[in-house]
Amino acid sequence: MKDTKQTSGAGGEPHQATRGAGRPTLTTNQGLAVADNQNSLKIGGRGPSLLEDFVLREKITHFDHERIPERVVHARGAGAHGYFECTKAMGHVTKAGFLSEVGRKTETFTRFSTVAGSKGSTDLARDVRGFATKFYTDEGIFDLVGNNIPVFFIQDAIKFPDLIHSVKPEPDRNFPQAASAHDTFWDFASLNTETTHMLMWAMSDRAIPRSLRMMEGFGVHTFRLISAEGESVLCKFHWKPKLGLASLLWDEAVKISGADSDLTTKDLWQAIERGEYPEWELGLQLFTEEQADGFDFDVLDPTKLVPEELVPVETVGRMVLNRNPDNVFAETEQVAFCPSHVVPGIGFTNDPLLQGRLFSYLDTQISRLGGPNFHELPINRPRCPFANDQRDGIGRHEVNKGRVAYDPSSLQADKPLENPRLGYESFPEPLSGEKRRRRAEAFADHYTQARLFWVSQTEPEQDHIVAAFTFELGMVDTPEIRTRMVANLRNVDEGLAKRVASGLGIALPAASKPARPAGEVEPSPALSILENAE
Ligand code: HEM
Repeated sequence: MKDTKQTSGAGGEPHQATRGAGRPTLTTNQGLAVADNQNSLKIGGRGPSLLEDFVLREKITHFDHERIPERVVHARGAGAHGYFECTKAMGHVTKAGFLSEVGRKTETFTRFSTVAGSKGSTDLARDVRGFATKFYTDEGIFDLVGNNIPVFFIQDAIKFPDLIHSVKPEPDRNFPQAASAHDTFWDFASLNTETTHMLMWAMSDRAIPRSLRMMEGFGVHTFRLISAEGESVLCKFHWKPKLGLASLLWDEAVKISGADSDLTTKDLWQAIERGEYPEWELGLQLFTEEQADGFDFDVLDPTKLVPEELVPVETVGRMVLNRNPDNVFAETEQVAFCPSHVVPGIGFTNDPLLQGRLFSYLDTQISRLGGPNFHELPINRPRCPFANDQRDGIGRHEVNKGRVAYDPSSLQADKPLENPRLGYESFPEPLSGEKRRRRAEAFADHYTQARLFWVSQTEPEQDHIVAAFTFELGMVDTPEIRTRMVANLRNVDEGLAKRVASGLGIALPAASKPARPAGEVEPSPALSILENAE
């Protein structure tokens, strides 16, 4: 009788059999050794290929499904493995273990990205850069999903689809690169004056970094740290590059984009291969609710930053990126960051943009990564044990053992149980108020920090901002949009608006309304067009 336990390949040789020079044998996905990977199965030398050829069919079928949807934003990215090392123990403000002890190291994976372009677009676009880091802590995964600019375009998540639809190619034409979407983006921006502060940064040298190794990173929103005693402080996260900040000139960016549009992706990879490991300091701005109440802006408004003169940045650690991905698809492409991945000791505030983000990432990843089990992929798996009653679904790898998948249960002694001592606790922030669609009064000031940014720039930097506004608005075909944008810039700085108007060859329009009266409900942009026309 044949040995039914046999695990060997053809002729009884084991699977691991090598073929010359120690190279592994090519097999199908079922582990069957492939005899000929050059020719499909045919009748005779010139006959038709046979449907029976399961080796051909498996290979082609797999190839046919190689692509997954690219990210709806931040599609083009470059990633690297590394580690975070705590350099200042922060146990007095947060119970997060990875920040609790000097010298403690935590594995990380970071992905840098542009925002608007598709996966194959140029690295040299004038754009915000994403800066997302996954900390594989022993208390679970903490994702710091930030950008290289400390503020954002909009104040409320409900506007994010509009912002992104305005910046992506227009639906009725296919011009996916630079010249597309100028009218739509600037139409949106000029009608939503809350974008002004971010626009100043986006038109500055910050939006064309020389290298991913020479960019700052920011968590943008105000977060919360929570101590073991249950006390809370507010917190902004900052990454500061050891190499310092450096940007390209626009003319350089345009030329390089034509000649070598993968510049910054390649630069990161090559530096790590050479052993020149890029490094960032992690800094925290910590402040109390009482301090925040005294600021003349709202810390829940993501279009505002907390000036370092008000709250200095405290360095608490360093991150070193020291290993390139082995496989860009498996790691950089399949990595799934999410702002709601936090660990005990880190919490959220009611920033209305952050609150929407807490929902969006897991939701989009279910379509991008095909079902609810992508947390099991090697790049996304927590490095600490994880166990719960979630079951099944497309792509399930875990072979859950045992009889029950519900809670509570008395039928299985080793079933995972909630843990009030170690478990994540949200900060018990007392809240009250009417349920309404409105924003806090301070959200209505759209220009003060934009002006602060403008005056903080050196003369050459200001020249670059003027040139960028002039170039970008010069690509806009609709005259009213250019005029409306310059009208808004008059509220930032008269000189800036005059220079942009002159560069565009248009008359200086009257300034738009600088701010809404305190407490007025944010009107729809449609109303503001009517008001400004009056
Ligand atoms: C990626 C949504 C605001 C930083 C993404 C993705 C979505 C998204 C759907 C794709 C995720 C994926 O497919 O894995 C939103 C929404 C926002 C918002 C709804 C506002 C309501 C922001 C802000 C920042 C930011 C303010 C910076 C602080 C990033 C980064 C990525 C990303 C860095 C790329 C992560 C990676 O490299 O995989 N965002 N986003 N986003 N977002 Fe946001």
